Amino acid sequence: MKILVTGGAGFIGANFVHQTVEERPDAEVTVLDKLTYAGNRASLAGSGDRVTLVQGDIADADTVDPLVAESDIVVHFAAESHNDNSLNDPSPFVRTNLVGTFTLLEAVRRHGVRYHHISTDEVYGDLDLDDPQRFTELTQYNPSSPYSSTKAGSDLLVRAWVRSFNVPATISNCSNNYGPYQHIEKFIPRQITNVIDGIRPKLYGAGQNVRDWIHVRDHNRAVWTIIERGRIGETYLIGADGEQNNKEVVELILELMGREASEYDLVADRPGHDLRYAIDSTRLREELGWRPEFRDFRSGLADTIAWYEENESWWRPQKAAVEAAYAAQGQ
Ligand code: NAD
Ligand code: DAU
Repeated sequence: MKILVTGGAGFIGANFVHQTVEERPDAEVTVLDKLTYAGNRASLAGSGDRVTLVQGDIADADTVDPLVAESDIVVHFAAESHNDNSLNDPSPFVRTNLVGTFTLLEAVRRHGVRYHHISTDEVYGDLDLDDPQRFTELTQYNPSSPYSSTKAGSDLLVRAWVRSFNVPATISNCSNNYGPYQHIEKFIPRQITNVIDGIRPKLYGAGQNVRDWIHVRDHNRAVWTIIERGRIGETYLIGADGEQNNKEVVELILELMGREASEYDLVADRPGHDLRYAIDSTRLREELGWRPEFRDFRSGLADTIAWYEENESWWRPQKAAVEAAYAAQGQ
């Protein structure tokens, strides 16, 4: 099976490539990745000779077309993925998330190739803290940020290409991932590497915002489940019942790293900050039989902390610049 993985040098994509090589002896993987600030060749180290990395842009049709033509399936992870960056400069989000997805869809349409689209729960907007409802596949789209609105637009392009051109596609919308190889601009790795460096963790606003955490391996197992058993044209929500507010997460990181739970700072809030995400993954569980394996957030987080402690050479080159950029905006 020849698999084209876009964004395979990023956080979730690199984990997907490693898992695929480990678990699927018949898989030949080509990674198409622009290697932006968020992509890292080192994340693919040790993945073996069944993985080929092509550096290129998903919005460049001349690059994309021949790679799609020789693939059995495209799994599309590549994106500009960070909300804070999208507030400072939305333009790469529009190009990569919208034009990039359009370019891939045109190529899979031309060559009749199976396509799986990786998306986010943020397309549904946010929930109140006390709302008993969670997001389902029927929740109305209501994105808040330039990031989430470009992801929402990309999902709608996929739906239109399925309906109008019979492109054999599926979509998944997942909640917040954690695990190894996540860029240190993101919440959990930022705080872990802060504590390693003797910097106090930074909580936006009052730290009450809730995210629904899932281990990256559970996300990627769900993606394989959908690729193998999902119905063409369908959307599946992926979540592991992992709701926690940001303050609770920071306190747990501090405790697991041997610090006082109160050693954090409250900093400027994110403009338009989504309050709460929560996923109801009943369709994925009942229709396709998927279940999360990493049910214990505490031990998953402890393993993630150990990974950042043991892999300092992977994140260290970016730490000073990431913190300087946050400090400049009061975060
Ligand atoms: P990431 O930022 O860690 O990685 C993105 C990768 O895409 C990088 O390797 C980058 O170099 C590459 N890329 C960016 N622009 C490109 C372009 N124009 N052409 C080719 N490659 C390009 O992101 P991530 O956290 O791994 O997210 C992967 C996907 O999963 C995204 O589509 C994101 O929306 C989605 N998602 C993420 C989460 C999460 O919690 N991180 C949750 C749900 C969905
Ligand atoms: O829900 C899925 C989404 O999760 C993905 O689509 C995005 O690609 C991914 O980045 C993530 O988005 P969030 O905005 O939720 O993730 P982030 O790690 O940036 O922030 C998580 C929460 O922590 C959020 O409420 C903001 C807060 N935060 C973040 C940082 C970086 C802080 O309190 N302090 C921080 O330093």
